Amino acid sequence: MKETASNDLFSTKVGAIAAAAGSAVGLGNIWRFPYVLGENGGAAFLIVYIISTILIAIPVLLTEFVIGRKTNLPVSGAYNSLAPGKWWNQIGIIGVLCAFIILSFYNVVAGWTMCYTVRSATGALQGLSEDAIQQAFVSLSENPWECLIWMVVTIVASAFIVSRGVKRGIEWSSRILMPLLLLLIIVVCVRSLTLDGALQGVKFLLSPDFSKITPQSIFEALGQSFFSLSIGMGTMTTYGAYISKKQNLTSCAFSVAFVDFVIAFLAALMIMPCAFACGINPGSGPGLVFVTLPNIFNAIMFGQAISFVFFLLLFIAALTSSVSLLEVIVAYFMNEHSFSRRKATVVSAILIGIFGTLCAFSKTLFGLFDNFSANVMLPLGALFIILFAPLILGRRAMRNELEAHGGKCKLFGFYYALVRYVVPIAIVIIFANCILSWMGVKMFA
Ligand code: PFF
Repeated sequence: MKETASNDLFSTKVGAIAAAAGSAVGLGNIWRFPYVLGENGGAAFLIVYIISTILIAIPVLLTEFVIGRKTNLPVSGAYNSLAPGKWWNQIGIIGVLCAFIILSFYNVVAGWTMCYTVRSATGALQGLSEDAIQQAFVSLSENPWECLIWMVVTIVASAFIVSRGVKRGIEWSSRILMPLLLLLIIVVCVRSLTLDGALQGVKFLLSPDFSKITPQSIFEALGQSFFSLSIGMGTMTTYGAYISKKQNLTSCAFSVAFVDFVIAFLAALMIMPCAFACGINPGSGPGLVFVTLPNIFNAIMFGQAISFVFFLLLFIAALTSSVSLLEVIVAYFMNEHSFSRRKATVVSAILIGIFGTLCAFSKTLFGLFDNFSANVMLPLGALFIILFAPLILGRRAMRNELEAHGGKCKLFGFYYALVRYVVPIAIVIIFANCILSWMGVKMFA
C-alpha cells in the first residue's frame, strides 16, 4: 500500500486531544500571550480574548477538524479534493506556505528557549546583574550563528518525532510531554504566587479596565486566538484527518480550546505576579520572558531550579507546536509527491532550516513573519476556510461529519449560524478596521 500521511491515525481520543493541544499550546501561550495581555491592559483584554475564542476561534477549529476528517486528507489535499479545479483549492497550498513562514521564526525562538534551558542548568545566568542579563539576551538574539545552532537542534528534535509517524511519533510524544508541561507550569505558578507582592499581578489579571480596549486590541485578541489555537492555515485540518470516525469532534475541539486557554491563563498567572513582585512593567514586549524573568529568578529562593523548569517547559511547548507545523509540510510531500515519511521529513527539515536561517540573520524578516502570520495570514486563511465549509461542503455534510461517531451534535444549529454569518462578518470587520487604522482612517470613533 502507498505510504500516505493519513494511513496512520491517532489511536485514542486522549491521544488526539493531546496531539492537537500540543500543537495549540506553544510559544503563543507562554511567550506571546502574557506580553500581549500586558500591553493591552490585562483583565479587559482577557475577556475580549475569551469572547473571540468562543464565538470565532472554536467554530473555525471545529470546521478545520470537519474538513480534515471528512476528506481524510491533510491540508495540502483536503480543499483540493472537495473543490477540484477551483481557485478555492489553493487554500491547501497557502497553508503549506504559511507553515514554512511560521516555522522559520518559530524555530528561532524555540532555539532560544533551548539555549536558556541549558544556560539555567549550567548556572550561566546565576548572579548576573540586570545589564549582564540584558546583554546575554542581546548577544544571543543578535548572534545569528548561535541562533542557528540552537535552531538546528530544535529542527532535528521535531524531525525525529515526525519521522516516527502519527501514532508512534506525534501522539506518543504528546501524551508524555503535555502532562509534563502542565506539571512544570504548576510548579512555577506556585512559586510565583507565593512571592511578596504577587497579589498585584493577580489583580491585574482579574480586574478589568475596559477603557483600555480599542479596536486594535480586539484585532490583537483575534490574531492571538487564531495563533494560539493553530487555526487558519490547516494544521488542525491535517490533525482532523488523523482523528478516527469513532471520536466526537465537537468534544475534541472544546477540550483542545479548554486546555489551550487554561495553559495561557496559567502562563499569565505565573508571569504577572513575578513581574509585579519585582516592579517590572508587564507590557515590556517580547523580551519579557528572556530578560525580565531571568532577573526575577536571580532574586528569588530556588530561582535557578525554577528557571530551569520554566525554560524546559517553554521548550516542550514550542517543540510540540513545531512538530505540528512540520507535519503539515511532511504530509504535503508524502501525499502530493509520493515521498516516504522519512524522505519527506529530511527534505522538509532542510527547507525549514534554510527559511529559518533567513530569519536568524534578519531581524526585519523575523518581525515581519511574526506579525504577518498572526495578524494577516491566519485571519485571512480562517476567512477562506469558514466560507469554504458551508459553500462547498454544505450544511448536511458538515452535520453528518459531526455526528459520524453515532451521537447527536446538539449545538449544530448555533455552530452553523456562527460559521455562516457571525464568524465571516466579524473577521471582515475586524480585519478591515485594522487595515484602515494602519492607513490612519478610523472606522469607529
Ligand atoms: N499554536 C502555537 C502556539 O501557540 O505557539 C503556534 C502555532 C502552531 C501556530 C501551529 C500555527 C500552527 F499551525
